Amino acid sequence: MKYALVTGATSGIGLAIAEALLQDGCFVFLNYAHDAARVGNVRAQLAEYGERMGFIRADLAEYAGADAVAAALPAAGLTYLVLNVGLTDRTAFGAVTAENWERVMRANVNVPFFLIQGLYKAELFAPGASVLCVSSLLASVPHSVSVSYGVSKAALSALSGNLVKFLAPAGIRINAVEPGFVDTSWQKEKPPDQRARIEARTALGRLAEPAEVAAVCLAALKSTYLTGAVIPISGGYGLK
Ligand SMILES: NC(=O)c1ccc[n+]([C@@H]2O[C@H](COP(=O)([O-])OP(=O)(O)OC[C@H]3O[C@@H](n4cnc5c(N)ncnc54)[C@H](OP(=O)(O)O)[C@@H]3O)[C@@H](O)[C@H]2O)c1
Repeated sequence: MKYALVTGATSGIGLAIAEALLQDGCFVFLNYAHDAARVGNVRAQLAEYGERMGFIRADLAEYAGADAVAAALPAAGLTYLVLNVGLTDRTAFGAVTAENWERVMRANVNVPFFLIQGLYKAELFAPGASVLCVSSLLASVPHSVSVSYGVSKAALSALSGNLVKFLAPAGIRINAVEPGFVDTSWQKEKPPDQRARIEARTALGRLAEPAEVAAVCLAALKSTYLTGAVIPISGGYGLK
């Protein structure tokens, strides 16, 4: 049995990646932090995969969350680790505080680094393991109203590349994906005119479905020769 962990997996992109891994035959640990009520809905939605799921409640905006996740994993170790939790902060530029800034950096970059390091040191990666960081198009396109979001996602994409040489000797691959605009709760909150502007700038003329992003993520996780790649999944945003 291959074990997978997807952080932030009870909604949106993380849920779609978890489902793709279940379809692929893995046992999947789905992490979340806040909404315990949603777990019942997710269990029902994924009922066809039976007992091949475990839910880990741990706040990955905090360092202790990484330790809690590691403690819940089986000794056999993970074949797939998907670092999908990502926070934003829409505080106006002039009002951003050190606390605002550090919370986003901690969740989007620091905790992912220490989770990877902790699993590595505890030998909780299975042979041939693969790590995937869910970054963002906004790592390279400074479109976001949140400075900390764009900067933290740029750091997450860079983290992936910087870890390649430390993980390769153990047979572990690591890659990042940079989705553009994906039709999850994040985007559903945007006013229609803002969505229309995004669609107008996207060559494919629409937002991505989470399952479309998940299909690329699954291919990256499984590819035995892919490491150090940063894969844009933007539907051609900015290319028309
Ligand atoms: N949607 C987009 O357009 C888009 C584009 C590019 C990149 N991304 C990236 O994709 C990732 C997922 O975004 P999404 O739109 O799919 O989000 P989403 O639908 O809001 O789902 C977020 C998931 O993360 C969990 N979560 C939130 N805070 C957490 C925490 N502190 N610790 C552990 N789990 C936590 C949520 O569960 P609880 O609420 O129960 O904790 C939920 O399962 C993020 O990294 C985001 O930056 C999104």
